[in-house]
Amino acid sequence: MIIGVEEGILSSNFPRTRLRRLRSSAAIRKMMVESRLSTDDLVYPMFISETAIELNPIASMPGIFQVPLNKLNQEIQDISNKGINSVLLFGVPNVKDAIGSEAYADNGVVQQAIRLIKEENPNLYVITDVCLCEYTDHGHCGVIRDMDVVNDETLELLTKTAISHAMSGADMVAPSAMMDGQVSAIREGLDKAGFSCVSIMAYSAKYASSFYGPFREAAGSAPQFGDRLTYQMNFANGREALKEIRMDIEEGADIILIKPALTYLDVIARAREDFECVIAAYNVSGEYSMVKAAGTNGWIDEPKSILEILTSIKRAGADIIISYHAKDVCELLKNVES
Ligand code: PBG
Repeated sequence: MIIGVEEGILSSNFPRTRLRRLRSSAAIRKMMVESRLSTDDLVYPMFISETAIELNPIASMPGIFQVPLNKLNQEIQDISNKGINSVLLFGVPNVKDAIGSEAYADNGVVQQAIRLIKEENPNLYVITDVCLCEYTDHGHCGVIRDMDVVNDETLELLTKTAISHAMSGADMVAPSAMMDGQVSAIREGLDKAGFSCVSIMAYSAKYASSFYGPFREAAGSAPQFGDRLTYQMNFANGREALKEIRMDIEEGADIILIKPALTYLDVIARAREDFECVIAAYNVSGEYSMVKAAGTNGWIDEPKSILEILTSIKRAGADIIISYHAKDVCELLKNVES
């Protein structure tokens, strides 16, 4: 007798129902799959460097490089050949200043990169990160006054940046500065400049996270004083994320983004329940580095862990996944038994 069944505490469906029946062969397991990873859903983030002359490895992110402009075509061919449809560009400029001028310079590194990519492969969908932290000498995401980022002045610079990306040929801009009103400012700016077809992926729920550490090495964007707690979200909060998302949708975001992914799967799932819009999740640098470190040491099975992690992000409800694993996943998906 099974303890509890008689008393009706446990489900009395057993032994009529046996869930293992539908796990008994590869064929039925495949039919049972609820969430599928596809290369179509992946966005590959890239660091484009104005100073590098060779592919410059990022120590904390094995397999990821700062890409110089003169090596960009090669990289783009590799990415396209692997089956990736979309990239997210970050710039690593030569010169930084207090107001991040290189972020919106006509000949800024991202602007040049977009033009090169569109010449090489016009079908590759180009998304650009719109933020100032890689371009400011203080490493914060906007204009500083009294040791804090000034919101409304920063909006003007973010809008200029988004327009200059659109002018260079970007398909979508992704504001990541976590300034209030950044989506409506950028939408209005793009529309006035004649770019009503350029989409916005809003980093709506971007948390102040320790998992951005390796990115800051890659992009040289660590804050030179203080932290980002006055603009990025507290990791203890979930309801606040839904509020951010709702506001961004109302301001005109085409896609909302939750970032990081793994420690916020609950936020992705709640957003999926509450909103119809397309949801993207950013599997960030620290999440990548942890898998790489454990994989390299033989502590986990790296390929299987990657598939498990990215599938969990889909299962939670994300439509699009931004991930440094994207190239590897394309290879892994070719011989997967779900
Ligand atoms: C820019 C930005 C950051 C990331 C994406 N856009 C860094 C930050 O906010 O400090 C992090 C991405 C990653 O860790 O992979 N604001």
